[in-house]
Amino acid sequence: MRVSIVGSGYVGLVTGMGFIKLGNDVVFIDIDDEKIKMINQATPPIYEEGLEELMKEFKGKYYATKDYHEAILNSDITFICVGTPSGEDGSIDLTYVKKAAEEIGKALREKEGYHVVVVKSTVLPGTTEEVVKPIIEEHSGKKAFEDFGLAMNPEFLREGVALRDFLNPDRIVIGVKDEKTRQILEKLYEPINAPKLIVDIKTAEMIKYASNAFLATKISFANEIGNICKRLGIDSWKVFEGVGLDHRISPNFFKSGLGFGGSCFPKDVKALIRKAEETGEEPLILKAVIEVNEKQPLKLIGLLKKHVPELKGKTVGILGLAFKPNTDDIREARSIIIVEKLLEEGAKVIAYDPKAMKNFKRLFSQIEYANSAQEVLEKTDVILIVTEWPEFEELDYSGKIVIDGRRIRSAEKTAKIYEGVCW
Ligand code: UDX
Repeated sequence: MRVSIVGSGYVGLVTGMGFIKLGNDVVFIDIDDEKIKMINQATPPIYEEGLEELMKEFKGKYYATKDYHEAILNSDITFICVGTPSGEDGSIDLTYVKKAAEEIGKALREKEGYHVVVVKSTVLPGTTEEVVKPIIEEHSGKKAFEDFGLAMNPEFLREGVALRDFLNPDRIVIGVKDEKTRQILEKLYEPINAPKLIVDIKTAEMIKYASNAFLATKISFANEIGNICKRLGIDSWKVFEGVGLDHRISPNFFKSGLGFGGSCFPKDVKALIRKAEETGEEPLILKAVIEVNEKQPLKLIGLLKKHVPELKGKTVGILGLAFKPNTDDIREARSIIIVEKLLEEGAKVIAYDPKAMKNFKRLFSQIEYANSAQEVLEKTDVILIVTEWPEFEELDYSGKIVIDGRRIRSAEKTAKIYEGVCW
């Protein structure tokens, strides 16, 4: 099939390259000239494992353009993969989704045949039918589910393993209303061997939120139990090993520590809270999930002060800035809260991250950045571990005070003083 993808950010690029790997042709639509240029030179504008290799391998099977008309006339199905950032109050900002719908609508005016539009961006229940549909209809002069198809197909990609997740998902959720669209999407996903759940559009939208909210809840729950365990002198990781053996619970995604960051969990849980409140519900669990998560990095600072009561003028080393390993992404990273707090206390910070320092420098130009983790160890005796990059396992922490938010076993073994956040 010929697929067009609106928005060549993280989700768009990975989805597009995934469809290419499945044998389709893809055209990326973006407003950013620099991104278009990079994609057309087979250079990924973001870092994601395996993406560059795939872009080089399949050069010629895809291109990027600014021109919606050309892209839509030359494709059978269009995925909206633009960002849905969080507004100040936690509500989601639909500016990019609306703009995409408008441009798609205008282009569809001239298109013959049954074109299918699929919303992949994370949008709250009701958005596809109440916001996207009327905009496309207005600008195309056509009717959804009769003249063109409309569907919602959430993504469940984890950064760092996104291509693998795309090609080997736990499930594919397809939210549709009309039979024709259903058949087209089923055909597109046919090569992927995974359960395919066909639901209505609103349900698909909700599955994405409920999944992310559940995973975020699991982490905040692990942290709450972890905090209690810490007080009682119990290793919470051992506890979750035991708990996770219950097949109804599963041991995955059960690591207590500093809490969750990233572009999805905090944003999606907050948006769901707001939506719930709009409907008159009070989402008690979801609010607690956010509250626990916001307090968790401060636990690390609390433990640090137990061993180094006066932080003013003290140099504190930070290992890891990215919100998780194998990414350069620092959105909602725990490191941000931790560095802010350290600076507030008058500490000097020296940080190292294998991939995320460039992004972090844009937020914090006033701290020192080391060229290696070893350099951090050479320059200070007080180390905070914030992201569990594998290379931090290789270090010898002898003579150091280590406060660990992610459980690096070599630090646990070799440090002079070692404290884990939840163990
Ligand atoms: C997440 C979802 O997993 C994915 O399905 C969705 O599409 C987007 O959001 P991602 O943000 O890439 O993906 O990261 P993920 O690997 O899920 O980790 C999120 C955060 O939770 C990280 O900060 C990580 O450190 C933290 N985490 C994860 C824990 O603290 N404990 C765990 O057990 C697992």
